[in-house]
Amino acid sequence: MIKVVSPSNIAIVKYWGKHGRQLPNNASVSFTLSNAVSETSMTFKPKSGPQRTIYFTLDGVEKVSFAEKIDRYFAGIADFMPFLADYDFEFDSHNTFPHSSGIASSASGMSAVAMAICEMERVLENKTNIDLQKASILSRLGSGSACRSVYPDMAVWGKHPAWPGSSDEYAICISDKMHDVFKSYHDDILIVSDKEKSVSSTAGHGLMDTNPYAATRYAQAGDHMQRLSSILAAGDVEAFGQLAETEALTLHALMMCSDPSFLLMQPATVGVIHKLREYRQTTGLPLYFTLDAGPNVHLLYPDEVAQEASSFIRNELLPMIENASLLPDRVGKGSTLLPQ
Ligand code: PMV
Repeated sequence: MIKVVSPSNIAIVKYWGKHGRQLPNNASVSFTLSNAVSETSMTFKPKSGPQRTIYFTLDGVEKVSFAEKIDRYFAGIADFMPFLADYDFEFDSHNTFPHSSGIASSASGMSAVAMAICEMERVLENKTNIDLQKASILSRLGSGSACRSVYPDMAVWGKHPAWPGSSDEYAICISDKMHDVFKSYHDDILIVSDKEKSVSSTAGHGLMDTNPYAATRYAQAGDHMQRLSSILAAGDVEAFGQLAETEALTLHALMMCSDPSFLLMQPATVGVIHKLREYRQTTGLPLYFTLDAGPNVHLLYPDEVAQEASSFIRNELLPMIENASLLPDRVGKGSTLLPQ
């Protein structure tokens, strides 16, 4: 049995818009998270019939739709992993974050599966090490942003001149290009609403094909990737936070002016943002936010202000929202194989 723990990630420069075989229209960068993870185990044996079979359980409950998704995914990556056609598989997966939290499980879930089949390949081919770059490629083919989850600290996905070695095909780890302050960064996730997203990310990426601001957006993302390379190296948490907020609001603005239009923020999202900016102005503390494609607010701050920031979040922000919950998280180590 192969067991993998793989995390979710939160983008600072957002990937929004794709082409070809799951290739990004702009480069992106994310923090790898620590607590929001999928724990996935996979067993395989030579197939017993003419067709490969896949059995999938989530928290012990059979999920036929997930098994079908993995089957389609395996068929789609047959050029990379032809041996997958010769085995029957059983998966069992568990997410540490609540199922209905609105946190995307595709990045953690698909990177876990990609890591598991790379480990399978390593075992079958008697190799010493797992090929992490291949794991990132295969994660990308499962769910674009998942390719950034396999690495520790932060990862860049998408070819960009400011990031040597970067590629549209896979993400690269940028630990050695970032100041230490970012290696213990916090991301407390304020769950504003646990309802399902009203736009799937596949549909969302598609909306960029006709968005009137698409070209400007891609140029802006390129500029942000350039600026981030010096911001991350210098450890400039203020410039980092400003850029993260601009990116988050741009992502939502793009959805608002798409056709059809989507407004994914809830009144509470906006309330929290105002309160947070007020707090920052009064205290000068580097507490900033980012948003995913949904209403939940990711609260970003360096470890050195953890006490003040987290008590403000718990005592002031959390009570603003009915039925809110908080998932404290921070920068993590990437995908890990558990010893057998
Ligand atoms: O990986 P996908 O197709 O679920 O797209 C993710 C898109 C965002 O989360 C909004 C941004 C990102 O870069 O992660």
